[in-house]
This record gives sequence, structure tokens and C-alpha cells, in this order.
Amino acid sequence: MVILDQSFPNVITVVISSFSYQPRYTNCSLKIQQDESGHCSNVPRNLNMQKLQNRYLFPEISMREQAHLRKYPNEKIISLGIGDTTEPVPEVITSRMADFTSSLSTDKGYRGYGPEIGSKELRKAISKIIYGDMPIKESEIFISDGAQCDISRIQLLLGGEVTTAVQDPSFPAYVDSSVIIGRAGDIEEGTGKYQNIEYMKCLPENNFFPDLSTTPKTHVIFFCSPNNPTGHAASYQQLEQLVHFARKNGSIIVYDSAYSSYITDDSPKSIFEIPGAREVAIEVSSYSKFAGFTGIRLGWTVVPDTLLYANGFPVIHDYDRIVCTCFNGASRISQEGGLACLSPAGFEGLNSRINYYMENARILVQTFNSIGLTAYGGVNAPYVWVHFPGSSSWDVFAAILEDTHIITVPGCGFGPGGEEYIRFSAFGNRKSITEASTRLKNFFKRRNHCSSPEPCL
Ligand SMILES: Cc1ncc(COP(=O)(O)O)c(C=O)c1O
Repeated sequence: MVILDQSFPNVITVVISSFSYQPRYTNCSLKIQQDESGHCSNVPRNLNMQKLQNRYLFPEISMREQAHLRKYPNEKIISLGIGDTTEPVPEVITSRMADFTSSLSTDKGYRGYGPEIGSKELRKAISKIIYGDMPIKESEIFISDGAQCDISRIQLLLGGEVTTAVQDPSFPAYVDSSVIIGRAGDIEEGTGKYQNIEYMKCLPENNFFPDLSTTPKTHVIFFCSPNNPTGHAASYQQLEQLVHFARKNGSIIVYDSAYSSYITDDSPKSIFEIPGAREVAIEVSSYSKFAGFTGIRLGWTVVPDTLLYANGFPVIHDYDRIVCTCFNGASRISQEGGLACLSPAGFEGLNSRINYYMENARILVQTFNSIGLTAYGGVNAPYVWVHFPGSSSWDVFAAILEDTHIITVPGCGFGPGGEEYIRFSAFGNRKSITEASTRLKNFFKRRNHCSSPEPCL
């Protein structure tokens, strides 16, 4: 049956009314552009994919940005939205990658596949330079093409039967990959929460850390520090509590330290600074924000050999198997760059970029303070988390975009706890940040004096 969708004149809605072999798809509805040819295969859609909410957050924002550009083709859009790095990678790093790349054109220098888990040299360097005194061995480090890919590989490792807790708000990949692997259950109308996921509220009222005395026990706990989007870095005492909680409940913490290089106070940079974490935690980390490798792609995951399943089997052996089966090793060129990042000159160059972004964050925090808005973060992470009490975050996103041509991220995109908040990214060049600051100050000054019947933001 084919129906013309009245609300979208270019769209035909195809209602697949019966699949004799797959009755659960009776109400499946696909939207196909009329000007594209399409053919329905006999392959049923993965039910877990069907459970994902709308689009992934960032493509949705990008779609709205495109629509805004069509409406205002002459306006200069400033993006404080997606957390992508903008400063060039230090030459000392790219030149090492370039030399290595050139050597691939020689008989002597050519290399094919590398070890699936990454070069020994890089694993050794990460163990020594990043983990230092922490009890992390080179053999427990798996080099990857980035933290997001590792999160999905960890989901594959743990499977669909385990129970999961996430910080609310949190980086959307934890929930979405839990949905895809089939452990999230259905979404609850009204709350926007998946039935089988435990949402641990982490907002200013609880100092961005869940009340563990009332948090139900789950098999897996995703925990990110400094957290994206709130920018909050958990303190040593908070992480001690988390490790204690996981040990008591027999849970595994999947700890995301993608922003640890932005920590400026004495908050731990790794879960493995906490005694007892080796028996309960996997750590996922990344070169993306640390080294501007968002496009180059490089990350790593630590699976301690002391972390065991309920039956005593070491998790590391299964993770090794997943990596060897589902991944064939990070690019040798990226790994070469990864080594250069860990050299003294590499570190120095990267630190200056990190300081640059953190100065941007300071400018943004000051902007919001001067407007009288409450802003969090911006001290241990390049994100500023601003509260708009009583307002829907998509409405605030839309109002800011319409008036200031600035792209932000609505807090609700990070979970129901993010409603009423907006995340501002401090990645960007200084000129855009100061221009954004001026536009925001003018906008909120006008809004604060508005006499509209609509609530002022
Ligand atoms: C908390 C967090 N983890 C992981 C990632 C993804 O990192 P990667 O680029 O290494 O895949 C991001 C990206 O924004 C992030 O914010």
C-alpha cells in the first residue's frame, strides 16, 4: 500500500501491511524520497534500530544548521555546538606522520597490517607516560581508532543481557549503543527514558554525582569524567565511592576519560588512580580532544587482567577476541602521530592548544556570569553548561540560533536530565568566541528586558 504523506509532499509513506514470515513488522512504515528509486528487500529491520530515538543528536543539529543557512544565507554562523577541535595539530606531530607515510612508498619502509591491539611501542608509551605510577601494564592497553568505536566494541563484548546505568546527562553514545545491542528495552512515553536503563542524575543539586545509596545495582555503569556535557570532573572522593559501589555490587565501570587532559584541578585523570579500580573498571580514552585527532582517529582502552566475569574468566581475553575479530588495528600513520604526541615537544604543543581552548571556556563562563545566567563547567573541560530554568532546551537552542546565529547543543539531547540546559563548546578560534560572546550578551540583554507574553529565556 502506498500513501502520499500530506505533510511532506515529496515523501511517499510505504506502509508494509504484512510480512508473512515476520508478523512483528506489520506496522512498519518507511519514508522514501519520491525522486529516489527504492526497492523493498525481504530483510526485516533490526528491531533495536527501530527503538532508537529520532536521529542521533549531532546529525539533527547539523540539519537545523543547514535549514538556518538556507533561511539566512548571508549570516555568519558561529558553531559552539559539536565538540570538534579547531586548532591545527602541532608540526612536530604531523611531520612524524608525514615521514612515516613517505616511508610507506619505499621497499624498506613499507608495512602492512600491524598488531590488532596496536603497536607495542605506543602501548608502552601510553603505559609509561599517561599512566605513570598507576598500575597499568602495556599488555592491558588496546590501541583503537577512537573512544566512540571502543564504546561500541565494549557493548558487543558485554552483550544484550546485562543491565546498564548511565549518568544523566551523558554523551549519547552510551545509551544509543545500549539500544542497538538490545538491552535498553522500550522508551517510556513522557519521561523519554529507556525502561531498562538506570539514569543516574548528575546535576548541580547533587554536585554532579549520583546518590549511590539510592542507585539500583546494575551490571555495567558508564561513567565519564570530566563529563560531557556538564564539564564536571569527579573528585577523588566521588570516584572512591563509585569504585566501592561497583565492588560491592559486582559491577563493571566503563570509565570514559576522553577529556582528562583538560583537568586543571586535582581531580583524578583516570579511574585507575583509585585503589581497587583494577578489579572493577575498563577505561576508554582518546587522542581526539587531547591532540586534535578527531579526524586522524586514535584512542585506547585499558582492560586490566584482574577484571573477571562472574565465572572467573578474564574479561581481557574476550576483549582481545573482540578487537581481533571486529577491528584490524588502528592506522599505523595515526599510531606514529600518537607516539609523537607523547614526546616532550608534542606534549608542549598540545598543552598550548588545551590552554587556548580553556581560555575560550573562561571567556564563555564570564559572558554568562555577566548576563546573570548560571554556568557550570569550563574549568576541567572545554564545555560550559548553562541553566535556563523553566525553558525547554530545544526552544532555547532555537531562540539563540534565530537571533544570534550561534549553534549550541540542547541539553535534553544528552538525556532527560539535560532539559533546561544548553551546552556551549569552547572549541573554536578566539575571534569567533569573542564575537559569540558579544552576540550572546546583546541577545540576553534584549531578552531580559523583553515585554513579550512568552517567558524570557
Ligand atoms: C565523552 C566522549 N567520549 C568519547 C567521544 C568520542 O571520541 P572519539 O573521537 O575518540 O571517538 C566523545 C566525542 O565527543 C566524547 O565526548
